[in-house]
Amino acid sequence: MIVAGVMSGTSADGINVALVRIGDGRARSATSASDLRGRAAHADTVTGASKIKLLGHATYSYPAKVRAAILAAMNAERARVADMARLNFLLGELYADAVRATERKFRVKADLVGCHGQTLYHQGELQPFLGKKIAATWQTGEAAVISARVGVPVVSDFRPADMAAGGKGAPLVPYLDYLLFRDSKIGRIVQNIGGIANLTAIPARAAADNIVAFDTGPGNMVIDAATEMLFGRPFDRDGNIAASGAVLEPVLQRLLRQKFFRTKPPKTAGREEFGRGFVREFLRLCGSAHKQDVVATATAMTVQSIADAVRRFVIPRRGPNRKNIFREMIVSGGGARNTTLMKMLAESLAPLGIRVRLTDEFGLPSEAKEAVAFAALAFETWNRRPSNIPSATGAKQPAVLGKISYA
Ligand SMILES: Nc1ncnc2c1ncn2[C@@H]1O[C@H](COP(=O)(O)OP(=O)(O)O)[C@@H](O)[C@H]1O
Ligand SMILES: [Mg+2]
Repeated sequence: MIVAGVMSGTSADGINVALVRIGDGRARSATSASDLRGRAAHADTVTGASKIKLLGHATYSYPAKVRAAILAAMNAERARVADMARLNFLLGELYADAVRATERKFRVKADLVGCHGQTLYHQGELQPFLGKKIAATWQTGEAAVISARVGVPVVSDFRPADMAAGGKGAPLVPYLDYLLFRDSKIGRIVQNIGGIANLTAIPARAAADNIVAFDTGPGNMVIDAATEMLFGRPFDRDGNIAASGAVLEPVLQRLLRQKFFRTKPPKTAGREEFGRGFVREFLRLCGSAHKQDVVATATAMTVQSIADAVRRFVIPRRGPNRKNIFREMIVSGGGARNTTLMKMLAESLAPLGIRVRLTDEFGLPSEAKEAVAFAALAFETWNRRPSNIPSATGAKQPAVLGKISYA
């Protein structure tokens, strides 16, 4: 079946659509080199999609006004409920437009859509609220609108089922990471650098419940905010600004002392942790430093927080089995296009014996990975199979993720 995966992350930069062919032949194996590698998994929690082939992908930037409205809606103190209700339907239209444009571009018709939606709020931890302890999440983008416009069923709202099962609702992409990147000989860390950065560590020959996955902290979020405020540009293209600056070491060390970085996984982050408030404090610490140095420091914070996470929470878990040594980090997300960040990352991980690669080398373009993941997750849901990975989210049991809107 052909599934369109639709992803829009915390960067609120736009919409990524991936059209994939997913087969269910557990006994079959990949037939051509262009097939993304994926085989029937052995563990209980990863049972489904045995063969995933990317047919095409495209990215659509949000119009500036829409981006501003999304960022305003994320600002919990000021958001108005009428605007949020409207935004939900507007995003449904934009997601449908994006899917249809991608279908036309590649002359492929989807049979099913898996849409993550735009996260407006995520609180993965239980907290007291009006007499009960609850965790809460909210992804917007009306799936009924998408299914009406595209004419096929839509799976949406993937996170609540995991949270109802006691999980943090994130990360969900490890399902795809495990399917595509596990290896019989080497341990691999699959690292996405979106607005937030998150990793999936897969020891050699691991079962699905042996993987570790968590958010490492900010990805591009703080870099984007600093670039916007100091240079009036939405992001540091290719890392050119950071390359022309010097890292402010005392500021960097101060930032890395944040409690989030020391907290043990599972853990998730969002604009709640690394949004406005954090950036304001960061800029205050930078004082009157050169503007380029501020961007370089934000970039170094992303890199060092990833390297620290690997050192603290990934390497110690490999146990006595020397075969489980992590040798590769496979990077995806918009941050993979930031040359300065990637160079710093390679330098930080080399002493740990870890080589940095891109998902592109495996036939999966960096910007398409999460969209492919939501196509794969939708396929599992369509087949009534669970696709959360309890060891990654902290859920007590596997859960069938999402809700289905029928066309
Ligand atoms: N050429 C580039 N150079 C530097 N950074 C880039 C480039 N292209 C994309 N990015 C960064 O990637 C971000 C978007 O990444 P993405 O993976 O879509 O994140 P999210 O999932 O949070 O939306 C942009 O905000 C920008 O910071
Ligand atoms: Mg994005």
